[in-house]
Amino acid sequence: MCCIHHLWQGWLPVCVAWRVGMVTVSGNRSGVMASKTVREARTNPPAVLRLDGASNLLQAYSLQNGSWRSVCSSQHWTDHHGQASCQQIGYDRSTYVASERQQAGAADGGFFTVRPEWSPEVSILQQLVLSDACPGNSLVTLHCIGRISTSLTETVLSSDCGRRTGVSGRLAGGPQQQQRVRGAWPWVVSLRSGGVHRCAGSIITPHWVVTAAHCVAGDPNPEHWTLYAGIVESKDTLFRPVHSVSRIVAHEGFSRHNMRNDIALVKLSRPLNITASGDIGPVCLPNTGLNISTSQNCSVLGFGRAASEDSLTLMEAKVSLVDSGTCNSSNVYGGRITQGMICAQYKEGEHHMRQGDGGGPLVCEEGGVWWLVGDTSWEEEQCNPSHKPGVYDNVTHFLSWIYQQMKVRDTHTALRGGEMNGVD
Ligand SMILES: *[C@@H]1O[C@H](CO)[C@@H](O)[C@H](O)[C@H]1NC(C)=O
Ligand SMILES: *[C@@H]1O[C@H](CO)[C@@H](O)[C@H](O)[C@H]1NC(C)=O
Ligand SMILES: *[C@@H]1O[C@H](CO)[C@@H](O)[C@H](O)[C@H]1NC(C)=O
Ligand SMILES: *[C@@H]1O[C@H](CO)[C@@H](O)[C@H](O)[C@H]1NC(C)=O
Ligand SMILES: *[C@@H]1O[C@H](CO)[C@@H](O)[C@H](O)[C@H]1NC(C)=O
Ligand SMILES: *[C@@H]1O[C@H](CO)[C@@H](O)[C@H](O)[C@H]1NC(C)=O
Ligand SMILES: *[C@@H]1O[C@H](CO)[C@@H](O)[C@H](O)[C@H]1NC(C)=O
Repeated sequence: MCCIHHLWQGWLPVCVAWRVGMVTVSGNRSGVMASKTVREARTNPPAVLRLDGASNLLQAYSLQNGSWRSVCSSQHWTDHHGQASCQQIGYDRSTYVASERQQAGAADGGFFTVRPEWSPEVSILQQLVLSDACPGNSLVTLHCIGRISTSLTETVLSSDCGRRTGVSGRLAGGPQQQQRVRGAWPWVVSLRSGGVHRCAGSIITPHWVVTAAHCVAGDPNPEHWTLYAGIVESKDTLFRPVHSVSRIVAHEGFSRHNMRNDIALVKLSRPLNITASGDIGPVCLPNTGLNISTSQNCSVLGFGRAASEDSLTLMEAKVSLVDSGTCNSSNVYGGRITQGMICAQYKEGEHHMRQGDGGGPLVCEEGGVWWLVGDTSWEEEQCNPSHKPGVYDNVTHFLSWIYQQMKVRDTHTALRGGEMNGVD
């Protein structure tokens, strides 16, 4: 029987349809090291992998050609390659869901294909070779993070990240009621220090949550922090486990002065129980090539404080994205907007964010999936009734930072220090 335990340890033997005989973890998992080898060897393997578009098309960067190419799904592509690719990108190998296929388009010219034999001890990058043709015309789409479903007879990793589970049983009574349905926004968590709600965050893997640096930089000691997942109201905390935190990684370039690099990662001591039926699940990190700026469905989520101090309710506000030029103009934020920020305006009649909403997700729907476009950073109140847009950290801009942190902090667990450098 094939069981991989290290992520889901203790509650589910993951003996899923991976058809993985045995998993050998290669000693050198660092992509940095691998790409260095590539350059030194002057061979043609790619330097880095990425996921593109709403379908998660796997692409590799060709150093030789200086361009991105899709990976061909030949008969040699296996789940070993899929797992290794997810790990190379920045996920834990055990979160791998599946590799699927997508028809190559006419515009796709030049590919990477895999060598016929899987070699566990060699980096996935070195097992990819440039190719002019893609036999079968089918490309790899890669699902690195998803949910598990269990039935009496089997356990399978089923759906992707970014799926809302609580919406199908929608209650009558309009949006006010709908937002309280459990599982409607399964990635939103409440981050607490000293037991008090401070900020919201978004689950991206069973171990990692994205939040804003301004939430945690003042108190980077993980022992002071806890979080709740799957809650919609304060009283839900009575029935939910409290999760302890093992790491706080605030962006080293964060500055309270100009709110640049307002992003942080929180690592949980134990993985979250992410199941297809449950009301806890990850949001998708934005891929390249997503048409986010034209997204019609975007929302900001947070635990806006209700009338009484200690009463929280998960709130949704529908927003539309505002282009940086407008947001940066002299009559809005007058030059304070950087590439690492993204602006969004509340739609008519939507409530505004309140204290305690910081770090919460700005999500947009594309291809039926919700993507983490931003985390709530700052907004400027005005005296006149027309509010300025809210400002969010541009998650796409920090994608490689996020993947790099997850990779390094998962691989070299002994690595210490340097986490809060430069934070004022
Ligand atoms: C891993 O890297 C070290 C140092 O770079 C090297 O000595 C060793 O041979 C590598 N091991 C494998 C399995 O590639
Ligand atoms: C790009 O790669 C193809 C192989 O797919 C090769 O024939 C071509 O010469 C490369 N172009 C450049 C500019 O290196
Ligand atoms: C995980 O969640 C599923 C579905 O909600 C539940 O049946 C199972 O008991 C949970 N496991 C643990 C360890 O909490
Ligand atoms: C993005 O949207 C614009 C306008 O709707 C469209 O012209 C463009 O082709 C889209 N791009 C992609 C990659 O889908
Ligand atoms: C906003 O304006 C400032 C000052 O003109 C400029 O330095 C900055 O690059 C602009 N931001 C964006 C995203 O263009
Ligand atoms: C936006 O939401 C509406 C209503 O739920 C849905 O019909 C539509 O397909 C969504 N648009 C996108 C681009 O996902
Ligand atoms: C967010 O970052 C991405 C990647 O750097 C960039 O392409 C995009 O223009 C940025 N968005 C805004 C609104 O600045």
